[in-house]
Amino acid sequence: MKLLLDTANLEDIRYFNEYFPIVGVTTNPTILSREGGDIVAHLREIRKIIGDDKELHVQVTERTYEGIIEEAKAIVYLLGNNTYVKIPATDVGIKATRYLSSKGYSITMTAILSPSQAMLASNAGAAYVAPYVSRLENICDDGIEIVSEIQKMFNVSKTETQIIAASFKTVRQVLNVALAGAGAATVCSEVMTNLLNHSTTDTSIAGFYADWKKSFGDSTLRELIAKSN
Ligand code: G3P
Repeated sequence: MKLLLDTANLEDIRYFNEYFPIVGVTTNPTILSREGGDIVAHLREIRKIIGDDKELHVQVTERTYEGIIEEAKAIVYLLGNNTYVKIPATDVGIKATRYLSSKGYSITMTAILSPSQAMLASNAGAAYVAPYVSRLENICDDGIEIVSEIQKMFNVSKTETQIIAASFKTVRQVLNVALAGAGAATVCSEVMTNLLNHSTTDTSIAGFYADWKKSFGDSTLRELIAKSN
């Protein structure tokens, strides 16, 4: 399952883009509002950090059909190839997705809370649908089961639309959507960090270094190999 970073924090994007195998960055108006300032320059900077080959998902803020179309064009003009326009799952959003997809724009239909919304988004030509796992679980629904149903439906219909699961609070949720067959997940910095962290990994590594040092001092294996040549 592909992983994307769900943040607009430049420091986090620089770090995870360098160290983690992310295929892109996703944002939404709430995420961008946390950064403030010149948000256009900020989005340009995100594109500069991740390069042209990675996905950048940016949500429209316009709410009318014409407004969404014009804003989608402006977003892609600003940020170039591999820019995905996020459009919320409303009737106007579906109409805009039908039009923009037919013109070759890559659309991520967002705020998906049900399989029926995902079906409509797929039929409208969306590249991705973004079901919100934690927001479903916050209202006592089964976010993982919804993702699983969407994936089963997509498998049966053989649509090219992929799931980019979103809204995660835990690593377990991320693993469960991977097991459900989702093509991608976008996770915040904290959950991304927790995908890697494990205290027993840390103590194991500390043990390896300590045992090595007891026998070989400060020399590394590389240094010993160089000496023996
Ligand atoms: O973009 C959608 C996703 O970021 C929502 O996540 O954590 O605000 O529910 P959250």
